[in-house]
Amino acid sequence: MKLPSDADASGRDFDDQELALLKEVINSGTLNCTKGTQVNTLEKEIAEIYGIAEVRAVSSGTAACHTAYAAIDPEPCDEIIGTPVTDMGAIAPMLYQGAIPIFADVDPVTLNITPESVAERITERTRAIVATHLFGNPCDMAGIQEVAARHGIPVIEDCAQAFLSECNGRLVGTIGDIGCFSLQQGKHMTTGEGGFVMTNNEAYARRMRLFSDKAWGYGDPNPDHYFLALNYRLTELQGAVARAQLAKLRGVVSRRQATAAAFTSLLEDLPGLTLPSAATGSTHVYWKYPLIVDPNVLGGADGFGAALKERGVWCAPRYIQKPAFMCQLFTERNTFGKSGWPYTARKAAGLDEVTYDEAEYPGTRQGLARVVVLPWNEQYTDEHVGFIAGAVREVTEQLSSRGAGLSGAGSEAAG
Ligand SMILES: Cc1ncc(COP(=O)(O)O)c(C=O)c1O
Repeated sequence: MKLPSDADASGRDFDDQELALLKEVINSGTLNCTKGTQVNTLEKEIAEIYGIAEVRAVSSGTAACHTAYAAIDPEPCDEIIGTPVTDMGAIAPMLYQGAIPIFADVDPVTLNITPESVAERITERTRAIVATHLFGNPCDMAGIQEVAARHGIPVIEDCAQAFLSECNGRLVGTIGDIGCFSLQQGKHMTTGEGGFVMTNNEAYARRMRLFSDKAWGYGDPNPDHYFLALNYRLTELQGAVARAQLAKLRGVVSRRQATAAAFTSLLEDLPGLTLPSAATGSTHVYWKYPLIVDPNVLGGADGFGAALKERGVWCAPRYIQKPAFMCQLFTERNTFGKSGWPYTARKAAGLDEVTYDEAEYPGTRQGLARVVVLPWNEQYTDEHVGFIAGAVREVTEQLSSRGAGLSGAGSEAAG
């Protein structure tokens, strides 16, 4: 069976609404947001839905994260705590702002950072905590906020995968100090590339607006380029598509939640599988559907994923494969020329050297060794859900009947 894919029209929700707004933009002849109306209106519409004071549209999720870090304005060698299980677009901008990424371990089932793992990493140089709501399942925001408040540190929520997720009745993105979102092709709503940031904090709002537009003080009595900043503006064409997509967002999320609930109910009795669920008071919006496989019952994620693929169900065993800090960027310190900055600057200032040791991340190792990420999509029908559930059932029954110590179980021996 061919499953809808978010890479093309089969799994995306584009129609005459996007076309009508695009036509308006083309007819207006204004494709740039500083002169047009679409991006401006989009920002107001998102602010209204989220009940937040300020929304700034930017050119990607990476740009959204960068804009958030720039709003916090760390000093060189300050530390930002985040997760090692995320897209590099959430981490690289820390280095561009001169800050050093510090990684907190994740819970092996949700693969989210926890209040405890964050607390362990706080030092006097910590300038921000980034809570990434992975796969659409919210972090324990109450706990993380409490740790942050104890130290007077702002919290940035990375909601790239978590549109309209709620945590204790509040939309993620509005709970911390700044929320970041991505509008890349595979997200709950998309403009191909794009993103936005949100905040209720006036000082952050001003820096976010300035940073994403070369720090030029538009509308000020004596405008200037006030500080080092980039052009991260969204175009009017993207703004038009985003507005049409925004109008469909609630429906997209509800459809994903309904089919995911049906899928869960078809698999609940299976041995060795932990299915995703949100904590009490929170909602999962199923950007993806992560299965956690018990290696003692089903072998490792790789074997389980390979068997699923043989049955025509695409999946990503081990998600990003390895913790972000094991990528060459970090292992070789490939940052600015051959300088190794800001790591080397930190050393030169007589501060402790920052090193990343996989052994200190048992939750991350276990989580990545066990997770098999299934794509999820608002266009899935009961037939699609039944087909995927049938394949998962077959694989689970086959592997579990072979007993423990299966091929792939060894892949977690170190985890
Ligand atoms: C959690 C998270 N943060 C940040 C990003 C970066 O977003 P973009 O690819 O739009 O730059 C992504 C992208 O997939 C993501 O999943």
